[in-house]
Amino acid sequence: KKYVAEPYKIKVVEPIAVTSRAQREEVIKKAGYNTFLINSSDVYIDLLTDSGTTAMSDNQWAGIMMGDEAYAGSKNFMKLQEAVREVYGFKYIVPTHQGRGAENILSQITIKEGDYIPGNMYFTTTRAHQEMNGGTFVDVIIDEAHDSANENPFKGNIDLKKFENLIDEVGADKIPYICVAVTVNLAGGQPVSMKNLKEVSKLAKENGIMVMYDATRCVENAYFIKEREEGYQDKSIAEILKEMMSYADGCTMSGKKDCLVNIGGFLAINDEKLYQKATQLVVVYEGMPSYGGMSGRDMEAMARGIYESVDYNYIHHRITQCRYLGDKLSDAGIPIVKPVGGHAVFLDAKQFYPHIPQDEFPAQMLAAQLYLKSGVRSMERGIISAGRDKDGNNYHPKLELVRLTIPRRVYTYAHMDVVADSIIDLYKERDKVKGLKMVYEPPVLRFFTARFEPL
Ligand code: F0G
Repeated sequence: KKYVAEPYKIKVVEPIAVTSRAQREEVIKKAGYNTFLINSSDVYIDLLTDSGTTAMSDNQWAGIMMGDEAYAGSKNFMKLQEAVREVYGFKYIVPTHQGRGAENILSQITIKEGDYIPGNMYFTTTRAHQEMNGGTFVDVIIDEAHDSANENPFKGNIDLKKFENLIDEVGADKIPYICVAVTVNLAGGQPVSMKNLKEVSKLAKENGIMVMYDATRCVENAYFIKEREEGYQDKSIAEILKEMMSYADGCTMSGKKDCLVNIGGFLAINDEKLYQKATQLVVVYEGMPSYGGMSGRDMEAMARGIYESVDYNYIHHRITQCRYLGDKLSDAGIPIVKPVGGHAVFLDAKQFYPHIPQDEFPAQMLAAQLYLKSGVRSMERGIISAGRDKDGNNYHPKLELVRLTIPRRVYTYAHMDVVADSIIDLYKERDKVKGLKMVYEPPVLRFFTARFEPL
C-alpha cells in the first residue's frame, strides 16, 4: 500500500506500555469493559480520541515560553484574536477551556425553553448543552449519513428539505440557530460541501436564523473540499477555510483538534451584541474575556497551531494516514464506515458482530476485545454514546460504531499496521464473542463512566 511519508521528523519520544494478554485481562475487568476507564499507562496505541492528543511542534513549544500570564489584556490573547480573524475571519472571540465551554455559553445566550436546534447529526456535549437550556436537537443531516456503506463524498451535508420542514413546522422564531458541524464526527468524520454551506446560509438568512458552525475539525473539512469539490482543486486550504467560514455567523471550536493544541477552545461570533452577552457569561464560567479558560501560554500555542494547521503538507499527511488504515481494513473485508473521514476510521459493529443485538452493546464489546487483543484503545460510538431521550428511553442510533481515532502527528504507519492486523485477527474470531450488560449507568453522558460485565 502506498503512503504519504511524514512531513516532520521526531525530536522527542515518549515510551508506551507493552503489556501481556494476562495484564490486559485484569485491566479491562477493572475498567468495567469501558475503554474510557483504562489508565493510559496500560495502553499501547491510544486511539481513544484525537482530542487534546496532538503532538505540538517545536514552534508551538517555543511559544509556550512566551506566555504572558497577565490577568487582563494578555499579549497572547491579541495573538490568538489575530489568528482567528486572519485564518477564520470571525470578528470577536471568547476563549474557553475547551469546546464544550464555548457550547455552554452559546447555548445560554441563544436558546430559550421550547426552542429547536437543527444540526447535522448530534454530538454528545453539544446536544447536552442545547437540552440543558430547554432546547430540542433536531437531526437534519442527509439520510445517507446514517448508512455506513453509502459513499457520498459529502456525507455530512444538511438536508435542506429537512431544515425547511422544521422551519415550517415550528416557525423560524423557535430556531435560534442551525448548528453545522464541519466535519461530522459521529457520521464518521464526514465533510460538508461548500455548495451545501452556501445553500444552508441562504435559507437560514431568509428566515432570520443564525448559522453557527461546530468548527472543531474545519481544516479537515477544507481538505475534503479541495480534494472532492469542483472548482477548489487549485485553491489553498487557507482560502477554502476562509470561504467556508464566510457563510457562518460564528462558531464554537474545540482547539484540541484542528488548532493542534492539548487544551483550549473558543466561541467566535460576528454580532457585537451577542459578543457582549457572551462576555457577561464567560466571566462566570471561565474567566476574564481576554483569557476565558486558558493560560497565556496556551493561547500562544493555539495561535501558532492555527497557522500551522492550514499547511497543505500537514493536512495531506493526516488525512492520508487515516485513509491508509481504513483501506487496509476494508481490503481485508472488515466493515467500516465509508468513505473514510478526516480524523478516524469507524468500525461497523452491527456488521462485525451481527449476532449481538444492539441492546447488548456490540460496539462496546468490540472496543474491549481490541484492547484485549493488542492494547489498542478505541471508543464506542453507538447506543451507549447516544444515551436516553427526555422520557428516559434509550436512543437506538442506526450507527453502532467503534472509533479508531488518529491523534495528530503522533503515530507512524507501523502503528497503523499493528492496529489493522489485530482487527483482522478479531474478525476471524468474531463468532465466539458475546455481548455485555450494563451494571452502572450515570444520568448524563453515560459513555464516559458506565460499567459493564460480559454476558
Ligand atoms: N464538537 C465536536 C464535533 C467534538 O468532536 C467535540 C469533542 C466537541 C464538540 C467538544 O469539544 O471536548 O473540547 O469540549 N470531541 C472529543 C472526541 C471529545 O473525542 O470526539 P471539547
